[in-house]
Amino acid sequence: MSQKKLKIGLFGFGCVGFGLYEVLQKTPGLKADIRKICVKNTDKEREIDPSNFTFDKNDLLNDDEINVIVELIDDADAAFEIVSSALKKGKAVVSANKKMIAEHFTELLELQREYGVPLLYEAACCASLPIIRNLEEYYDNDLLESIEGIVNGSTNYILTKTFAENLSYEAALLEAQQKGFAESNPILDTGGFDAKYKLQILLAHAFGFIAKPEALFNIGIDRIGKLELKYAKEKGLKIKLIAKAFKNTDGTVSAFVLPKFVHPENRLFSVDDVFNGVVTKTSFADEQFFVGKGAGAHPTASAVLSDISALGYDYKYEYKKIGQQQGLTLTDNIELDVLLRHEKPAAEALRQEFTSVNESYLNGESGYITGKISFGKLKALHNENEERSFVLI
Ligand SMILES: NC(=O)c1ccc[n+]([C@@H]2O[C@H](COP(=O)([O-])OP(=O)(O)OC[C@H]3O[C@@H](n4cnc5c(N)ncnc54)[C@H](OP(=O)(O)O)[C@@H]3O)[C@@H](O)[C@H]2O)c1
Repeated sequence: MSQKKLKIGLFGFGCVGFGLYEVLQKTPGLKADIRKICVKNTDKEREIDPSNFTFDKNDLLNDDEINVIVELIDDADAAFEIVSSALKKGKAVVSANKKMIAEHFTELLELQREYGVPLLYEAACCASLPIIRNLEEYYDNDLLESIEGIVNGSTNYILTKTFAENLSYEAALLEAQQKGFAESNPILDTGGFDAKYKLQILLAHAFGFIAKPEALFNIGIDRIGKLELKYAKEKGLKIKLIAKAFKNTDGTVSAFVLPKFVHPENRLFSVDDVFNGVVTKTSFADEQFFVGKGAGAHPTASAVLSDISALGYDYKYEYKKIGQQQGLTLTDNIELDVLLRHEKPAAEALRQEFTSVNESYLNGESGYITGKISFGKLKALHNENEERSFVLI
């Protein structure tokens, strides 16, 4: 099969957009040229000649020569406008925008079907890791039991620096931003929202379940305190921000984003810095492990490049599992092993919420409880206004 010639209209020339430009220069074998680039700020200095740029999205969307729109901007609402217009005009689209994809998953699916054009977004999940295409093509739905991973490079970088190198949280976040790993709005990363958007996409491709992002529970790393770090250090564990989706024995699925104490024997223990790691578990193959850089210009651009190349051969996601999985439900009816850090006066009342308690500890003003708690109770007790944090054990 010969590869189609692709004329690209590129939106965004920031960390990933410029990364893609550089990567394309180094892959002359790929029959893909950037015809025009649309950006936002008229007074910004650019790395390449100004004649390459426009500030009007219609210059790209109305150009009949452009058959692929690559959307790499940092504004999810504007991105949805661009991507939906492009699909309606019959242009194939590549995007790295997990927030936009997670928030509009069903609409984007319908647009692809109605207009018969593909939307690929490998870079939106774990940047350089080829996880979506593997879930889509390789894993048969009946065999896949769970998917668990570190899916946000920026928070993993912050956790690695604060834990191993004793950098302050603020200094580590600044470093992540300076290196181009962080989202423009840092709470998307640190609050676990970016991981939640990726979990939504993973759920759809792993199990064929389309969740609304707000139906998925997330706690980020911004609540982690000194007591949890001390607990981890004393026990030889690391704290990682985990996104997890799994099938229960009754066929329902559960999913969440939570910080987790990770044991040295866990494959995710050694996934540090900006790396992401995903462990899949299937009935017959048991565990499989994907690891790679989860953010940054060239690693992210490599996944965008792979999608562009796949479009040259008319690749599209089939979404087979979505068709097969009508009636699948998401449940909170599970028990989790956790550590709950709390303020001292709340200790006794919180103990009562646990199904079973392993350990409890109090110091001057705070303490922790470890044990089993129902996911529903955990969600009810997670309160932004209370000095409380949950970490999975
Ligand atoms: N950075 C990473 O490591 C990473 C990894 C995976 C996925 N992603 C995703 O990739 C996308 C881009 O991230 P980034 O880090 O490259 O962002 P970035 O460095 O902040 O660059 C954003 C670019 O978008 C342009 N832009 C914003 N609004 C626009 C609009 N309405 N029309 C046209 N251009 C617009 C900006 O234009 P100006 O240049 O004029 O300001 C800028 O060039 C995001 O969806 C992000 O979630 C990033």
